Amino acid sequence: MIRDLILQNRSCRRFHQEVAVELETLRELVDLARCSASAANMQSLKYILSCEPEKNARIFPLLGFAGQLKDWPGPAEGERPAAYIIVLLDTEISKSAGCDHGIAAQSIFLGAREKGLGGCMHGAVQREELSRILNIPPRYEILLVLSLGKPKEKVVLETVGPDGKTGYWRDSESVHHVPKRKLDDIIIG
Ligand SMILES: Cc1cc2nc3c(=O)[nH]c(=O)nc-3n(C[C@H](O)[C@H](O)[C@H](O)COP(=O)(O)O)c2cc1C
Repeated sequence: MIRDLILQNRSCRRFHQEVAVELETLRELVDLARCSASAANMQSLKYILSCEPEKNARIFPLLGFAGQLKDWPGPAEGERPAAYIIVLLDTEISKSAGCDHGIAAQSIFLGAREKGLGGCMHGAVQREELSRILNIPPRYEILLVLSLGKPKEKVVLETVGPDGKTGYWRDSESVHHVPKRKLDDIIIG
């Protein structure tokens, strides 16, 4: 089951925007992150939730979507995320999150997948501007933004070919293809 969940848990960047994600759902997802591993159990991550169209509309333009797809400006109105979880480091608890935010994000997305939702981690974030518009106090550092919604795109895994290229691509039917390296190419000893 965990293998199926992980295989289905692809980054998704086009959504049925009209299908709302409730605040309670976001809280349940953050609760999965809360119960996940944390370096030295410092639990320095904090979260801001957004599922209101007005707040979403202010967050959306500050995120990068599929930077490798040079001809794609990101999801059009109507296909944008219905919710966001902003993952913050509370620098008054710790100066570094280690890799806690990656673990938290994966827990959140596995939980989301189980609920029929999908989304994408965004490292490409205009952090200063996002902090400003949401009045985030300086003690909090924006680590990642997670976009969420009901998926509207098909994503398939491919195997990296002999050329070694790992870039993702879209075909003529807008199916998103994601090459992954072969198992024997990543276990080196
Ligand atoms: C730390 C991290 C940051 C990422 N940042 C972005 C981003 O800013 N924008 C985006 O569209 N995708 C982003 N992604 C998603 C990756 O592009 C995606 O994971 C990769 O293409 C593989 O696809 P998959 O998640 O379906 O396996 C990020 C992923 C990770 C793990």
